[in-house]
Amino acid sequence: MKRIAIFASGRGSNAKKIIEYFKNKPDVQISLIVSNKATAAVLDLAKTHQIPSSVINRQDFYKTETHLEVLKSKQIDLIVLAGFLWLIPSYLTTAYPQKIINIHPALLPKFGGKGMYGQHVHQAVFDAKETTSGITVHFVNEQYDEGAVILQATCALNDNDTPSDIAKKVLSLEHHYFPVAVEKVLMDME
Ligand code: GRF
Repeated sequence: MKRIAIFASGRGSNAKKIIEYFKNKPDVQISLIVSNKATAAVLDLAKTHQIPSSVINRQDFYKTETHLEVLKSKQIDLIVLAGFLWLIPSYLTTAYPQKIINIHPALLPKFGGKGMYGQHVHQAVFDAKETTSGITVHFVNEQYDEGAVILQATCALNDNDTPSDIAKKVLSLEHHYFPVAVEKVLMDME
């Protein structure tokens, strides 16, 4: 049995896809949902699926290792960042080497780094007149968007695509490929 913790700050549409993907797979359990926002929709998702959840605050997350104890007590094997905006502290990257993964809504190394999240990414892709965009699933280290790439998938853009059209195309790639990438990482861990 492999146990996953999903960290998410927002609406949780990727978290939902991952939960649904593993629902009927007995060897994988989504054991914890962690959010840094008490009002995040992803916490409602946790309730709906009866998954334990916890809300973290900045002080505890960066100044203590309390949260590591929670992850250990739940025997978490893999941490999946699905729209989690805080930088991961070194006590977590050290405790979970190559066991924390993130999804970024662009083709890294382009359009990554601090401040490159959500609509900012798609606006930058639009401004640069890119003809393709896509997703990058990657391991997490202590820098934003810099760990080794696990998977990329691309979509074609055309001249009429607005930043929100780009966002839609990219999100649909995320929903399709992220659960598959999570499963691949779990299989490689065995
Ligand atoms: C996704 O676009 C993901 O690439 C980024 O944050 C967004 C999360 O969306 N890291 P959702 O909350 O899963 O809908």
